[in-house]
Amino acid sequence: MNAKATNIFEVHSRIDRNVREDRNRHKGGVLWLTGLSGAGKSTLAIEVERALFAEGYHVYVLDGDNLRHGLNSNLGFSHEDRTENIRRVGEVAALFAEAGFVCVSAFISPYRADRESAREAAGESFHEIHVQADLATCESRDPKGLYERARRGEIPDFTGISAPYEEPETPELVVDTGSLDIAQSVAIVLDYVALNLTLSKPNEKA
Ligand code: ADX
Repeated sequence: MNAKATNIFEVHSRIDRNVREDRNRHKGGVLWLTGLSGAGKSTLAIEVERALFAEGYHVYVLDGDNLRHGLNSNLGFSHEDRTENIRRVGEVAALFAEAGFVCVSAFISPYRADRESAREAAGESFHEIHVQADLATCESRDPKGLYERARRGEIPDFTGISAPYEEPETPELVVDTGSLDIAQSVAIVLDYVALNLTLSKPNEKA
């Protein structure tokens, strides 16, 4: 989005991104988890954060339900509000990546165009991960009881029931939580991070 304000001038950091990454021994990046409510995004994000932190990564989770209490508390679930939700989060996640963090974001982010905007904000640091479980599976889990309420007509614009979910076409990674347990799902993401975000230790061969 173009800035609305005029007469604004960018300030440039004197700490190069490579310098941060060399010190951290890993790249900054956005692990963008997308999927239906109940697919397991938050659970996966929290467990991945715990595992990466234990390994010494700079890592932080941005979660839809949490951010909707603060930064995004003025937004609902219309198409327009979800687009604004994802625009803000995409920008914040990109800043985390710039700061050297592995930012694990867990948002339904149902619209392809919005996820593409988030990808543009983070550039090469963006990694789309489809946390995949079909609607019937998510509905049978119904961890928050929201599907049942949505079916009763009590929650308008509910993703998968009365609002769309546009599946990723070419995500960097798919985690099929319909058939994998949480430990297996975490392991897949950790392998991906080791391959794509980890720099070899100074005494290791590249
Ligand atoms: S997004 O579509 O804008 O990306 P986000 O991930 O921030 O959604 O929030 C989704 C969470 O909000 C769900 O996990 C659920 O707990 C809650 N929620 C409340 N109303 C809805 C709704 N109409 N559709 C989907 N999720 C909803």
